[in-house]
Amino acid sequence: MGPSGSRGPSEEGEPPIPFSSLRIEPFRPTRDVESFDCDDRDLNEFLTKDQVSRYEAEGLGYTYLVYLQSEGRLIAYFTVCTDTLRVEYLRTVKTFKPLSGIQLESIPSVKIGRLAVDKRYWGRDIGTHLLHYIAGMVMETGIAARLLTLQATSRSVGFYQRMGFELTTETRRERRRDNRTMFFDLWSHPEHGHALPRE
Ligand SMILES: CC(C)(COP(=O)(O)OP(=O)(O)OC[C@H]1O[C@@H](n2cnc3c(N)ncnc32)[C@H](O)[C@@H]1OP(=O)(O)O)[C@@H](O)C(=O)NCCC(=O)NCCS
Repeated sequence: MGPSGSRGPSEEGEPPIPFSSLRIEPFRPTRDVESFDCDDRDLNEFLTKDQVSRYEAEGLGYTYLVYLQSEGRLIAYFTVCTDTLRVEYLRTVKTFKPLSGIQLESIPSVKIGRLAVDKRYWGRDIGTHLLHYIAGMVMETGIAARLLTLQATSRSVGFYQRMGFELTTETRRERRRDNRTMFFDLWSHPEHGHALPRE
């Protein structure tokens, strides 16, 4: 993941939105969600149907709503929960070779279950800010999590690759999925080691 908000205003389109213009708050039932449109029916419906409340109530995933402070408008959301990634998914990833001496079935991770930006705000750094924000949240918990994981749709793989996420080794189970499992090594994040003094 490169630095957050590193781009200047583009000549085409709207200028980037700085992180300081966002307000991020834990999900609460609100009518704001009805106008949200990220051009993906499942991601829109997750917010508007009772799925999001059920995930909260059952402790399956916590959702955060992201507002543009100046307009008070909901422009993005994300859902996170804990996860593990089996080591077989990292078989071909060089960075993880040193772990081969440790008896380990899976790597502790945090999963970005959903991440969506309203289509009227695409290309203005919101997705970038939110990935950095989630990485920061995880690194500040004081609980070990080495990876961010997610299931990327074919249309979002390119975005995550730009952000430093990698595709996992294509296992048999992986070949049966429509989406691709991707991961980001938090040890490679520029803020790693700065969040909490652990050394
Ligand atoms: C994918 C998504 C989260 C990106 O959010 P965003 O706020 O538009 O992203 P940013 O503005 O931070 O973009 C960062 C960079 O990624 C690029 N990018 C954005 N979406 C991309 C995509 N789908 N494929 C390839 N590159 C993409 C941007 O052009 C930008 O590149 P640049 O820095 O060279 O200009 C957003 O488009 C979205 O919500 N899409 C619909 C829902 C979805 O697919 N969610 C992911 C499901 S797993």
